[in-house]
Amino acid sequence: MSSYALTVIIPTYNEMENIENMIWTIIDVFQQNSIYGEILVVDDMSTDGSIQIVQELQKHQSDIHLIVREHDHGLSQSVVEGFERAQSDIIQVVDADFSHPVELIPAFYHAIHDEGYDVCIGSRYIKGGNILDWPLKRKLISRGATIIGKFLFPEITDPVSGFFAIKKEVVQNSILKPRGYKILMEVLGKGQWESVTEIPFTFKDRELGKSKLDTSTITDYLRQCLDIAVYALKNHNTVVWNEWMKILKFGLVGLSGIGVNTGILYLLTECAGWYYLASSIFAIEGSIITNFILNDAWTFTQGKNRLSEKWRRFISFQIVSLVGVAINMSILFLLTEVGNLWYIVSNFIGIFVAFLWNYWINRTVTWGKQR
Ligand code: GDD
Ligand code: MN
Repeated sequence: MSSYALTVIIPTYNEMENIENMIWTIIDVFQQNSIYGEILVVDDMSTDGSIQIVQELQKHQSDIHLIVREHDHGLSQSVVEGFERAQSDIIQVVDADFSHPVELIPAFYHAIHDEGYDVCIGSRYIKGGNILDWPLKRKLISRGATIIGKFLFPEITDPVSGFFAIKKEVVQNSILKPRGYKILMEVLGKGQWESVTEIPFTFKDRELGKSKLDTSTITDYLRQCLDIAVYALKNHNTVVWNEWMKILKFGLVGLSGIGVNTGILYLLTECAGWYYLASSIFAIEGSIITNFILNDAWTFTQGKNRLSEKWRRFISFQIVSLVGVAINMSILFLLTEVGNLWYIVSNFIGIFVAFLWNYWINRTVTWGKQR
């Protein structure tokens, strides 16, 4: 057993113009940062001499390893084969064409090795991240893909990034069905992980060689999302299933809130003799408070329980809820008055949209990660 601290997987297909420079750049990063790293090139039978270039480098450098794959070609399959052959416990994946800034590799390594995250993702879509030189069409496709990905992984801003690092144990016992380009989605959907962090980076389109992406990758991607969803239904130890449980709990708490609301409304109006609209204000506030208590204790398990933190969450929940009520009522009004829908139907749509709003903002802001 070798004691590499890090394995950098580089999938390649016809990267003659880039691969040598890429390998030297990574070795340089290893040396600058005192990382004992292994480079694992996973090649799908390149026809342009990439393989020979790597083999030549191997003569001078023992930390470069090469897999030449003869069957089942594909980027995802190659990366998965890299996972299986990696000699260290931390694995980084990086494109060969300098689209990913390899000088960030130590930051990924640090996030996993020192901060203990299971997964670290290079994101183009958080503050500090960017994409250079992509045509509008590709930008739109990528954006669309991340929005669909949000339904599976709401916390992750760039689930289709090709630049990421993981602990090997995340994928060690998972059966991945790699397909298309989006290996990270597969890892997130089927791997064993809990914690994730993202590092912003600027994606630069390749200067040399050409991209291998075509339109079938879009349908591949949709099928993969569906496959991950079905997998989560059957495997409850996944992050996706946990997310769905949170949505379910949040919904149940919301239903309980309707009970609390009605109860207070009835008691104040019937027993205390209040005007019903005045009772309603207290009924709404009462249900917001019980909803908060239940969500805080049951739906979202929270690390920090200092009192000030609880207050912050409560105030956030309060504001989100009131905006939710406003959304519900606006939709009720507009669809009924302008859209000529039956007000009961308008109200259902209003409740649905308000629910999405409430869940989403509370999930990401009220009970979101504090960094
Ligand atoms: N082994 C192998 N087999 N490698 C491949 C294959 C393949 O069939 N196809 C592409 N690669 C390698 C390329 O040599 C390159 O190192 C890397 O995978 C990315 O391929 P590109 O063709 O440069 O992809 P891109 O720039 O269009 O796509 C990028 O964006 C996606 C996110 O939108 C990549 O970063 C993807 O990894 C990323 O998912
Ligand atoms: Mn590329």
